[in-house]
Amino acid sequence: MSALQGQRVLLGVSGGIAAYKSADLVRRLREAGAEVRVVMTAGAAHFITATTLQALSGHPVRESLWDAAAEAAMGHIELARWATRVLVAPATADLLARLAQGRADDLLTTLCLATEAPITVAPAMNRLMWAHAATQANLALLRQRGVAVSGPDSGGQACGETGEGRMREPADLVAELAAALLPPRLAGRRVLVSAGPTFEDLDPVRFLGNRSSGRMGFALAAAAARAGAEVTLIAGPVKLATPAGLRRIDVRSAAEMHAAVLAELPGQDVYVGAAAIADYRPAAVAERKIKKSEATIQLSLERTADVLAEVAAHPARPRCVLGFAAETDELAGYALGKLASKKPDAIAANRVGLPGSGFDSEENALTLYWNGGERVFPSTSKAQLAQQLIDWIADWLERA
Ligand code: CTP
Repeated sequence: MSALQGQRVLLGVSGGIAAYKSADLVRRLREAGAEVRVVMTAGAAHFITATTLQALSGHPVRESLWDAAAEAAMGHIELARWATRVLVAPATADLLARLAQGRADDLLTTLCLATEAPITVAPAMNRLMWAHAATQANLALLRQRGVAVSGPDSGGQACGETGEGRMREPADLVAELAAALLPPRLAGRRVLVSAGPTFEDLDPVRFLGNRSSGRMGFALAAAAARAGAEVTLIAGPVKLATPAGLRRIDVRSAAEMHAAVLAELPGQDVYVGAAAIADYRPAAVAERKIKKSEATIQLSLERTADVLAEVAAHPARPRCVLGFAAETDELAGYALGKLASKKPDAIAANRVGLPGSGFDSEENALTLYWNGGERVFPSTSKAQLAQQLIDWIADWLERA
């Protein structure tokens, strides 16, 4: 059950293009068990309609301080008292400036002044507006006053630029909000996570890789950090933003992944092997581009080290070692085989190669196998799933 069950979330939507994601956010908050009421600024109405947000939240959307009928139903002070959490997503540069000044010139800013509920803002704006000293000063002031700031993330922006300023994804915002309600179960623990694919070079322009997106490993690292752990994330070549509050080490090949994991291993309480590490690499890397000649060519491949098995047998073995098994078929059989041969404490098995689950998708389902038990984690967002796995790890550490 999500920690958001029974929470009353007041969602403030301000006028940025990311407002289109607020619809998904409302849906996910409700799926997590929260009751949601939406307040839009005048600017937000240029990007998304109140009808959409009303249909998804199941309640009329408030837009104005001066709406007599709405005030008669639930006055703005009542609404401010009703909320147990306030989330402003997207929070534009203008909204942040108005909050920092303590203005009450529309319904949303008035509610933010009048509420005693904790406030989280999810900034979203052009990268230069984000980097501007005025925006940063406003944020520093808001943080000082106890406002939580979630994101922004880096990446492509609606304006065509690339950089910091994208609103954090709705699934991640919901997971963060839920985690903030829980006691930090991994406080004082050290967690090492490997994530993503590895690329094994054939020549200066070609490599052997795999379809791992790194999303599940990144979600696990983020969830561990949210649970209070000191997290080191060793990432293969992926295009993902670094989650908040952790240390990231980038690697490319299986050999680099192996070296980085072993170097970081001493002192870790948990190892999560979510990386899809190549089992074979070219026996030799050609110095120059391989030219085509024959109709077929032979590649000579050699085995790489099995990082998970080495970690599980290491003198500095963490108290919890979790492996993954990505399978196209015979999930249980192969997963149990890997549990027995590589000897982690548990193996999280998922199906890959099917549309809508596994490597490249936002959602995932897993079955966790350990000696003497198994548990099915039904399909949900990778952020939610990561939270559930981190909870399982916290239980394991408490028992161990
Ligand atoms: N793994 C590892 N080192 C490798 C290969 C895999 O540490 N060289 C780890 C992965 O991080 C994962 C687990 O082993 O936690 C299982 O990975 P998977 O690719 O499913 O299994 P393989 O051992 O590669 O077996 P196969 O390819 O035969 O299914």
